[in-house]
Amino acid sequence: MCGIVGYVGNDDNCVRVLINGLKRLDYRGYDSSGIAYFNNGKFNIIKEEGKLTNLISKVNLDSKSNIGIGHTRWATHGAANKQNAHPHKMGKFTIVHNGIIENYDELKKDLIKKGYKFKSDTDTEVISALLDYLYSKENDVLKVVQKLNFFLKGSYALGILCDDDKDALYALKKNSPLIIGVSDGKNYIASDVPAILNKTKKYVALEDDCYAKITKDDVKIFKDGKNLDLNVKEFEYDDASISKQGYEHFMLKEINEQPEVFKKTTNPYLKNNFEWLLKKMPDFTKYKCIRIVACGSATHAGLIGKQMIEKYANCEVNVETASEFRYRKQFLKDDELVIVISQSGETADTLEALKIAKDNGNDTLGIINEKGSTIAREAKMVLYTEAGKEIAVATTKAYSAQVAMLSLIALNLSLKKDLIDKKEIKELLKDVKKIPDYMQELLSNKELYRKIANDIKDYNDVFFIGREVDYALAQEGSLKLKEISYTHSEAYAAGELKHGTISLIDEGTPVVAIVTDDEIAPKTISNIKEVKSRGAHVIGITNDSCSDASDYYDELIKIPKVNDLFQPLLAIIPLQMIAYELAKLKGCNIDKPKNLAKSVTVE
Ligand code: AGP
Ligand code: GLU
Repeated sequence: MCGIVGYVGNDDNCVRVLINGLKRLDYRGYDSSGIAYFNNGKFNIIKEEGKLTNLISKVNLDSKSNIGIGHTRWATHGAANKQNAHPHKMGKFTIVHNGIIENYDELKKDLIKKGYKFKSDTDTEVISALLDYLYSKENDVLKVVQKLNFFLKGSYALGILCDDDKDALYALKKNSPLIIGVSDGKNYIASDVPAILNKTKKYVALEDDCYAKITKDDVKIFKDGKNLDLNVKEFEYDDASISKQGYEHFMLKEINEQPEVFKKTTNPYLKNNFEWLLKKMPDFTKYKCIRIVACGSATHAGLIGKQMIEKYANCEVNVETASEFRYRKQFLKDDELVIVISQSGETADTLEALKIAKDNGNDTLGIINEKGSTIAREAKMVLYTEAGKEIAVATTKAYSAQVAMLSLIALNLSLKKDLIDKKEIKELLKDVKKIPDYMQELLSNKELYRKIANDIKDYNDVFFIGREVDYALAQEGSLKLKEISYTHSEAYAAGELKHGTISLIDEGTPVVAIVTDDEIAPKTISNIKEVKSRGAHVIGITNDSCSDASDYYDELIKIPKVNDLFQPLLAIIPLQMIAYELAKLKGCNIDKPKNLAKSVTVE
């Protein structure tokens, strides 16, 4: 969930390395932070509640040290306070941890019986005590690190220091990401790329159940006692890709990167008149139906995918949120493809849903943005979106890349099943080429989005309505508004309003009506008239082909008409921008909204 960084090397600037690494991870959202570093014969621990600046004010950046670990915490067990902040030390072991130890309570009770006294309410501190206890029985750090796997249940990325081995940093990983950055005379651990991207380009991704001993000149990785080869890779990002490059916020930068992302994601498949689309994708005709499982915005992308695949490829698609799917009775069919969608490729609920599908014998496909992530490695097949590093907690470019990929899947399947005529294919090819420019056009509409944001800023409730694909868009538009502007909002199937919720529509209530599907548009427009007659302030997002209900819109955002397969990619731009402008008006922390984390690697 949160941020881990560790360093061991020839240079004695470890404190600076740790603090800078944590700063580069602070986009992930956290509530406290801390470091441990070896200096004056011992591991010194400094930790503080709240923002990194609170920690930095207590640290001497010029302290000399060659080894240490750092952490930004997103609390799961124990309040977000200094006592519960990491690193945690018990006996000879100092550790930082990302994840959740599900059996920490029973372990803690047992360790208390063995005489251990705990200072925090966290699950993490139990790990340090367990390490110390195991070490008291077997005086071999690497062996006791390996043994942790037998005792711990849940998810853990661990950075570990031992008083008896001050030249080595140990690491262990299960269901929570951890990488090892390698370079000459300096090695690192990190929970995500940005922490060390300015230090080295080379890394090793730790697989589940793997553990490592890292010194300044050597990195050894083990699994079940066996020393594994180092599969050293190169980061695909450069430092520039994780800077704002002149934008006020990462989110604004990433919204504006969508035209490029669309091209990077779709171009590899659209060469030679879709010939590559057929070659570079799995054979979806093998499957009688598809189940899409994801979380948050990725689920909303899946809902759009459902509309596209059912409409164009005549294939049944069911969409579920992973946190519900993973605990309910399963009815997966043998010839059902399970598609998991995840930007980070580390979302705990989505990962567990994937494991359920695999254990059930279903073929699985991951639509993933982060290359080499846990879900990408676990899925039988992967289609990577090419959104690049997404820093803002609220997803935008990765979401639209997921939608684009799902549209390509729908197109692939309809071509394979010969369900699309040649004329429409030509139309499509023309439209696809226009999408980036149309996106650019919509992005330039800043004044209109600012005005709309200003019109709705004093309202506590905003409604988003639409039907079918427009309802799927409404759900993403509503989530964006909620998560970055802290304005309550609700996405509603337009046809459902009259069954209760319309009672909430008062004079001036903002209603964002999305009307891009011309087949269903007349029905949605009837619903617009219903809310309008009750005083709603209606903000329409529509295109030229949907009959113009201009006298029912208080504000109208016209988007260019393109083939339905790609229309959502244009409609999402105003939704993202209205949320962004409202958040800005309200002075919210746009890139790091309160309580949120970029990758939810805990349940
Ligand atoms: C997106 O704005 C949210 N922050 C969140 O809903 C996110 O989409 C969800 O947590 C899934 O993340 P993933 O795509 O990395 O799996
Ligand atoms: N479960 C640990 C705690 O609550 C780690 C949380 C995290 O991943 O930041 O301290």
